Amino acid sequence: AEVPTLFTPFKLRDLTLQNRFVVSPMCTYSADDGHLTDWHLVHLGAFALRGAALIIVEATAVTPNGRISPEDSGLWQDSQIAPLRRIVDYVHSQGQKIGIQLAHAGRKASTLAPWHAKPTQHEVATAEVGGWPDNLWAPSAIPWDEGYPVPKKMTVAQIEGLVQSFVDAAKRAVQAGVDTIEIHGAHGYLISEFLSPITNQRTDAYGGSFANRTRLLLDIARAVRGAIPAGMPLLVRISATEWMEWTGQPSWDLAQSKQLAALLADAGVDLLDVSSGGNNPRQQVRLHPYYQADMAGEIRAELARRPPGAKPLAIGAVGMVTTAEMARDIVQADGTGEGNDAEHGTRTRADLVLVARQFLREPEFVLRVAHELGVQVKGPSQYHRAPYKAPKL
Ligand code: FNR
Repeated sequence: AEVPTLFTPFKLRDLTLQNRFVVSPMCTYSADDGHLTDWHLVHLGAFALRGAALIIVEATAVTPNGRISPEDSGLWQDSQIAPLRRIVDYVHSQGQKIGIQLAHAGRKASTLAPWHAKPTQHEVATAEVGGWPDNLWAPSAIPWDEGYPVPKKMTVAQIEGLVQSFVDAAKRAVQAGVDTIEIHGAHGYLISEFLSPITNQRTDAYGGSFANRTRLLLDIARAVRGAIPAGMPLLVRISATEWMEWTGQPSWDLAQSKQLAALLADAGVDLLDVSSGGNNPRQQVRLHPYYQADMAGEIRAELARRPPGAKPLAIGAVGMVTTAEMARDIVQADGTGEGNDAEHGTRTRADLVLVARQFLREPEFVLRVAHELGVQVKGPSQYHRAPYKAPKL
């Protein structure tokens, strides 16, 4: 039988992935003053042993006040390069690829790791526990919610400095040997706060019109593109919608994401990683297994309508991928995945599948999917005595 697209290689610039599985970036609140630790080596290394073609290191702050928690990863100083390089070298030793997500948490910075917090989510990390609630950055001085610290409206000089911080962090990542960089423009962190007319109420060149709200992301994308090797792909994650359509007020939505996708392609971005939400406590998410993959597919279809010769933009889908069928169908090149049905349509939605929680539950998820789809995936030689057998679930 023909190998499903899911297990065929994928090339972006000079980077070739052996299959379409990507470990989605996941904060693990285990860094030491921004330096990755043994935790990250073992946690991420485990995926490299088990078939994931690309591992994206968790949201990594480009300035200290851009960390979500005091224990977040960072690349704002040179001492943070070596601990990253150690992990990069290990992943490479296993024949797999590794990228890193660069981020600034904006008004959602300075929170406690979830297991230290009440179930309310992002509980503020006070100065006593290493937080910086008095030094949050945002496009406008609007807090996340009632009772949360009021962020500082960034000055133009700070915005320009932030672009340079993304460039400097990207250069450090390149020095550490990463294969790709992802800019975090999703989930209500700083860049996505700029995209949304709800959180961005500026009246200068960075707020108001669509062109102004997208300026920061496009400036960062162009600047990072110019600072990394020509052969290295650049990824951007966005929230395709902030799920605030129900309010009837202007908000960030899928139509604007489609428009932005074309501009990102022109800015030299190679893949758009399509997530959603996270910018507003009152968001109303319409959840179903394909809730985000379908938006990825819609953006992909829109890009296909660009004139011949337009710069291509690959698409990544993420969210609720837990089965072999769904992973296969999202990327199946001819859109004829066997599980595709009338409800979800038959089109190809994406080029890569990013998976987060299922990899935490089941680090050998790729191996199980391969097993179920009848594909051979090579594991580490050290494990040759015990070829993969699917557990009874
Ligand atoms: C995440 N997610 C996330 N997203 C991101 O862009 N940067 C990050 O650092 C994190 N951190 C993070 C930590 C943990 C523990 C989880 C569970 C999730 C979101 C994640 O990458 C993914 O988009 C969502 O979890 C949806 O995919 P799954 O989990 O349904 O496969």
